[in-house]
Amino acid sequence: MKIAAIIVLGCLWPPLACADAKAGEKKAQLCLLCHKAARDVTYEPLPLLEGQTREYLYNQIKAYKEKRRPDPTPLLVMQTNTANLSDADMRDIADYFASRKPMAVSYPVDSAAVSRGQALAESMKCASCHMANYSGKSKTPRLAGLNPRYLAVQLQGFVAGKRTHPVMSGVKQFPAADTQALAHYLGQLQ
Ligand code: HEC
Ligand code: HEC
Repeated sequence: MKIAAIIVLGCLWPPLACADAKAGEKKAQLCLLCHKAARDVTYEPLPLLEGQTREYLYNQIKAYKEKRRPDPTPLLVMQTNTANLSDADMRDIADYFASRKPMAVSYPVDSAAVSRGQALAESMKCASCHMANYSGKSKTPRLAGLNPRYLAVQLQGFVAGKRTHPVMSGVKQFPAADTQALAHYLGQLQ
């Protein structure tokens, strides 16, 4: 009895403790139709999810489901694909992707943009939140190795006030033209 009670409490806190990566793998198959390396390089601005932090993933999946995060795709693919997920599904899927190693994808990048992006990121101290080597932590996402086209869309979204967040909307001082440089720098990090 005592043990059962402890397990139940353990599941309530911390909130993600009971997520199940194994169950998440099955539930993630639909997601992997789009979120896979082959499609990522050639297709639309699309983020890979492997190695992303689980708290951030859970928050974003929920934000699309609740339509708090805008979906820039013409067919609203993210708001649609998350519409029927339960809370347990979202936790399992987040746990599955967070438990995987980040993919090593070589995106086409411009070396002048990479240098400019590095200087900008250092002067703006982006790593102070996104962590050394942009590996992310908890609710702050990993940025290293994400598709530069995806990153540029997100940064432009913050600049334009389309994607809002208390923290990122406050650090959007960079001119829109610099978003490309930052995206190229972050995208080529492993
Ligand atoms: C039809 C293609 C497609 C499918 C299927 C799909 N996604 Fe996406 N996903 C996208 C695109 C495109 C974006 C970028 C949208 C944007 O810019 O906000 C995205 C963005 C995301 C993000 C934001 C990542 C970040 O770094 O902020 C998460 C998380 C995500 N998807 C999770 C999922 C999950 C979980 C599923 C399965 C339930 C799924 N996706 C199914 C195309 C897809
Ligand atoms: C004070 C902390 C902080 C600083 C400084 C910061 N960020 Fe962020 N950033 C965050 C948080 C938290 C999020 C998650 C926002 C959300 O949940 O929607 C985020 C989200 C992002 C995203 C979206 C990633 C994705 O997968 O969609 C990008 C891109 C990004 N930041 C780039 C930058 C860049 C470039 C800088 C420096 C100019 C920077 N950030 C500085 C905290 C910070």
